[in-house]
Amino acid sequence: MLGVMIMPKQPTIHLLSNPQSLAQAAADMVVEFSRLSAAHKDDFHLVLSGGSTPIALFTLLAEPEMRQRVPWSRVHVWWADERCVPATDPESNYGQTYAHLLSIAPIPPENVHRAKGELAPEVAARDYESQIAEAGNPYFDLILLGLGNDGHTASLFPGQVNEGETTRRVIAVTADYAGRPANRVTLTPMAINGSKHVVFLVAGAGKSQAVFDSLRGVHNPLAHPAQRIVPIYGSVTWLLDDAAGMMLRV
Ligand code: 6PG
Repeated sequence: MLGVMIMPKQPTIHLLSNPQSLAQAAADMVVEFSRLSAAHKDDFHLVLSGGSTPIALFTLLAEPEMRQRVPWSRVHVWWADERCVPATDPESNYGQTYAHLLSIAPIPPENVHRAKGELAPEVAARDYESQIAEAGNPYFDLILLGLGNDGHTASLFPGQVNEGETTRRVIAVTADYAGRPANRVTLTPMAINGSKHVVFLVAGAGKSQAVFDSLRGVHNPLAHPAQRIVPIYGSVTWLLDDAAGMMLRV
């Protein structure tokens, strides 16, 4: 019996002229994909990234013209990772999303699934994993990921492959980056690679080397964690501003 070789699809790369047009492209994808799910009477499971890049996206989605196009009652919001801090902490990814979007959009509270950063890391990871299980281990419809200057994505960092990355949906990790909280909870490649659409949102010249290494560098998922993101059936899209994508042009 010949084994079935599933060839991963090549990523789609879009270069946008600036961070605002990048955010607009991402917002248009959220609107389009969520409306398609709702049209089929399906819930739409949206996973958000943390960090500063998605703030422009959240702000756009909160604006009346975009906000009214999203079928919020069908949307379930999750996070790709969370820092182990209380939701009220300025470093909380949930807290940032709440401030810029969830405090404004009419999403049912029960549709907001946050990793509880106030808990001990391992407890928070198991709790978040049980939330996903209680939701029926849905295939995430759209996962938005960022990329650090060092090439990390979610909380998957270069040089460290964590126990559980291929056997669990959520793990607790520790990593030092840009003075941000070191203890984190993150979706694993196993969870991310079961999704339908993964979209990397990357802006700024500081990310250009990490983008190049992830997309055009040697295949080394240990060094380049974005290379661990290979959805089994889903697609991968990179939305880059010109600065982040400048090394791809040469
Ligand atoms: C986090 C994020 C992380 C982020 C990148 C990029 O919790 O920090 O999930 O993976 O997406 O570090 O962050 P910026 O958008 O701030 O550059």
